[in-house]
Amino acid sequence: MSPASMIAIDGPAASGKSTLAQRLASKLGYLYFDTGVMYRAVTLAALRREVSIEDEAIVTEIAKCLPIDVRPPSIRDGRKYDVLLGGEDITWDIRSSEVDANVSQVSMYPGVRQAMTQLQREIGLRGEVVMVGRDIGTVVLPEADLKVYLDASDEARAYRRYLECQERGEGEPYQEILRSMRDRDRLDSTRDLAPLRAAADAIVLNTTELDADQVFRRVLKMAQN
Ligand code: DC
Repeated sequence: MSPASMIAIDGPAASGKSTLAQRLASKLGYLYFDTGVMYRAVTLAALRREVSIEDEAIVTEIAKCLPIDVRPPSIRDGRKYDVLLGGEDITWDIRSSEVDANVSQVSMYPGVRQAMTQLQREIGLRGEVVMVGRDIGTVVLPEADLKVYLDASDEARAYRRYLECQERGEGEPYQEILRSMRDRDRLDSTRDLAPLRAAADAIVLNTTELDADQVFRRVLKMAQN
């Protein structure tokens, strides 16, 4: 049997989605596509223009004409891809705590989601893709061949994020990361449109006690069956 061609990976922040998706994509020779970068890029663009994040109409307008591009990494600084906004490298700018604090609000707006979902579906339907997000299995690619929903305790997820920040030389305290992550998860899972949740036919994996290798091996087996 041929391996699953459209693989959807959803779950809350720092549940291990990106690590798993990158490894799967590289093993299978598929495109790795992290849909969160799109919502982050819209948020960054709105913050830079100093518009109010509460202003749904303006933020939606920004989303509709966002000149965003995602390409293979051009610099070896730990990045997995380049994120470009109108040609400018914003790969790390979209990971700032200011973007973290505002991205859930931006991703609640129906017009923003519609614009992003359309682009994501176009890319996903080409197949040979591992797509990561919150609503891939439920909304973006309900026809995916394999849907995985990763979860882990709040503390384990915040600690993983904390280690990532340390690696980049950012000193954000663990407690602050935990608080901001819980806020974001609450907004992401309670919004009306495409909330964070596992699709009925998703395989749910709790990664609190699993390391990245164990998760990868389990899901690779599922993808190849
Ligand atoms: O995966 P991430 O932390 O980079 O995602 C940033 C935000 O974008 C997250 O708070 C929720 C939103 N998001 C979404 O609503 N739908 C997606 N498919 C991906 C991300």
